[in-house]
Amino acid sequence: MTTAVLSEIHGKVGLIRINRPDAMNALNDAVVEGIAAAIDAFEADPAIGCLVLTGNDKAFAAGADIGVMKSFDYMHAYQTDFITARWERIKTARKPVIAAVAGYALGGGCEFAMMCDMIYAADNAKFGQPEVKIGTLPGAGGTQRLPRAIGKAKAMDMCLTGRLMDAVEAEKSGLVARIIPAEQLLEETLKAAQTIAGYSLPVIMMIKEAVNRAFESPLNEGLLFERRVFHASFALEDQKEGMNAFAEKRKPSFKNR
Ligand code: CAA
Repeated sequence: MTTAVLSEIHGKVGLIRINRPDAMNALNDAVVEGIAAAIDAFEADPAIGCLVLTGNDKAFAAGADIGVMKSFDYMHAYQTDFITARWERIKTARKPVIAAVAGYALGGGCEFAMMCDMIYAADNAKFGQPEVKIGTLPGAGGTQRLPRAIGKAKAMDMCLTGRLMDAVEAEKSGLVARIIPAEQLLEETLKAAQTIAGYSLPVIMMIKEAVNRAFESPLNEGLLFERRVFHASFALEDQKEGMNAFAEKRKPSFKNR
């Protein structure tokens, strides 16, 4: 792993920090590969139950690295399938990933945040898909995930004008789950991540998979998927432990099985 991405373990939480402060955390190969490698490692570690992806106080990430991208031609972008491979590693994570966003989350940065399972925003966060200003369009899911999160009207407005959205508007519009004062962003996000990681990991993974199914299937199919996974949860020792602990008025001790 390079220094463009730092990873730390906090209890049962894997923290991944994008670390290119001189370039507003612009996403180059080192950053993308660093994030993907950190996710690979945390996914393989049975002691980790939740991941947090963050940047610094000025930028979560200001998008794909324009300095690198500006010389790409069509054949390069197409032949290397630019974006597709390691950029989408966040999407395939099976453990929950929370984006803790302070400052700018623009272009690919906004798209990375939206690939996470939810976004906690600092009060100084700014989201945007400003690719139109540099002669291109969102290429890591912005035109697809943004309308699903905030509706067509606002997504179209942001993608066509390139305007930024502040934390208050982002929370009102459904893009972010919580707004947190900037100086407490990491602490509060880690606290929520520890709560998640304290539950049964297979149950957490089932919930994530079921909620995500809502965006991939018609309602009846999604409901059927949820019902079957709900039934499957009764095969878990953790379901017995959770319900017995409630009946016995004690704290459950989950074993992740
Ligand atoms: N790529 C490369 N370098 C970037 C960058 C990016 N996306 N964003 C910022 N930087 C660099 C700047 O070039 C500058 O470097 P130097 O000090 O060496 O000149 C440094 O970061 C600081 O940036 P600014 O001086 O511009 O800081 P600012 O506070 O005035 O503005 C900003 C901050 C509004 C984020 C502005 O930098 C900006 O608009 N950045 C570009 C945002 C953008 O267009 N993102 C979309 C990229 S395309 C994309 O992501 C495609 C996709 O869908 C995958």
